[in-house]
Amino acid sequence: MTANTMEELVSLCKRRGFIFQSNDIYGGIKGLYDYGPMGVELKNNLKQSWWKSMIYERDDIEGLDSSILTSPDVLKHSGHEDTFSDPLVDCKACKSRWRADQLEKDSCPNCKSTDLTEPRPFNLMFKTSIGPVDDGSAFTYLRPETAQNIFTNFKNVLTSTNRSVPFGIAQIGKSFRNEITPRNFIFRVREFEQMELEFFVEPGSDEDWHTYWINSRQKWWVNQGIDKNNLHLINVEENELSHYSKATSDIMYKFPHGLEELEGIANRTDFDLGSHTKNQNEFNISAKVMKNDKSTTKLAVHNLESNKWFIPYVIEPSAGVDRGILAILNEAYKEELLAEKNKRIVLALKPHLSPIKAAVIPLKKNNKELVNQTKKIKDNLQKLGLGRVVLENSGNIGKSYRRHDEIGTPICITVDFETLDKQTVTVRDRDTMQQETVNLEQLQNYYLKYFE
Ligand code: GAP
Repeated sequence: MTANTMEELVSLCKRRGFIFQSNDIYGGIKGLYDYGPMGVELKNNLKQSWWKSMIYERDDIEGLDSSILTSPDVLKHSGHEDTFSDPLVDCKACKSRWRADQLEKDSCPNCKSTDLTEPRPFNLMFKTSIGPVDDGSAFTYLRPETAQNIFTNFKNVLTSTNRSVPFGIAQIGKSFRNEITPRNFIFRVREFEQMELEFFVEPGSDEDWHTYWINSRQKWWVNQGIDKNNLHLINVEENELSHYSKATSDIMYKFPHGLEELEGIANRTDFDLGSHTKNQNEFNISAKVMKNDKSTTKLAVHNLESNKWFIPYVIEPSAGVDRGILAILNEAYKEELLAEKNKRIVLALKPHLSPIKAAVIPLKKNNKELVNQTKKIKDNLQKLGLGRVVLENSGNIGKSYRRHDEIGTPICITVDFETLDKQTVTVRDRDTMQQETVNLEQLQNYYLKYFE
């Protein structure tokens, strides 16, 4: 089961501290959101799960954390200065601005007028000045994708880690796009995070690696709790491919507002390293690249068998963290009817993604002995390092269960007078609502086993 509407998710996110409108107390800014106490944990857990699957569980990928501010030289040779734009139209009647390719019946969504200007390209990159003189002569861009500084660091990573192809560089971080019409909550925003892998391969092996990553990435989303029936793979039409791509497959997800892209997996050929390399003429670059006389470094690798230097091809799985969060929240959202016409909302998150792993709750708020024992239990579980454990000193067990169901906490542990007398606690399971008595001595093992 998923949420019925986007409003249900937006409301839960605000009520339970997942996601807030950014700059809210001053009226907010469109296309910007802040992650609250639960949101930041969920987001960190999703990113950690991706990082683990890319770097720790494989032997052919290295990590990177590069700068957000990016030289115009990089974004000129990447093609972004010339081509990273959307078609913009003005409504002559109400003076509003829209993305031409998202209009219904070529009319203004605001006033319904069809008196619109011709579409013109609007570059989506944010610019900012750098250094103490603000006269426009020294500027940088806020990166529109994390990928470019992976390419510019290719040689640094290759030589410092003794790699040869096939190998990859993975990065998670913020990207910025001045979207004309941000919309659908955190689906299309102006500041967002990406999880990007650039996987470098020998030309000729690129199509097999492309297929490999398309399959692998779908499986990963299913492991994050997405029902595979809500995922669809599409091959991007040739006339809609980005300038760097030979073939792209998009993993689409049934978001509450419709079927849309969650992740793209592109075969970027030798476009990127070929664009950024020094001495382009020395290599047999297959992609159409702009002449580069500024780069200081050859971005090539040596093939020992043929004794030739070549520019690797790149396979790029590129996923949006925020879109991932939206999909995962949507999948996990359930409304259940209980006895006596009561209902509960429960976020059935996979335990590894839950913002809080366990809540430890004293039966009575002001009983010193109970609270001290609760604190001890909480500290011991926290030390196991599986994620955040909270001491929930609300004095109202029913209310605590309700809150933890809604934020997706897998288990609640109640500390009562039996705990003091008999060294037992009551553990309640989020999904089944079953309660069981667990001996304090066995609690750590019980907890570790639960998250195995
Ligand atoms: N490096 C390739 C690249 O950036 P993209 O298809 O433009 O490709 C990759 O972006 C992913 O980033 C998308 O599949 C989406 O999940 C996310 N993304 C792109 N623009 C976004 C936006 N304005 N808001 C939220 N996520 C976005």
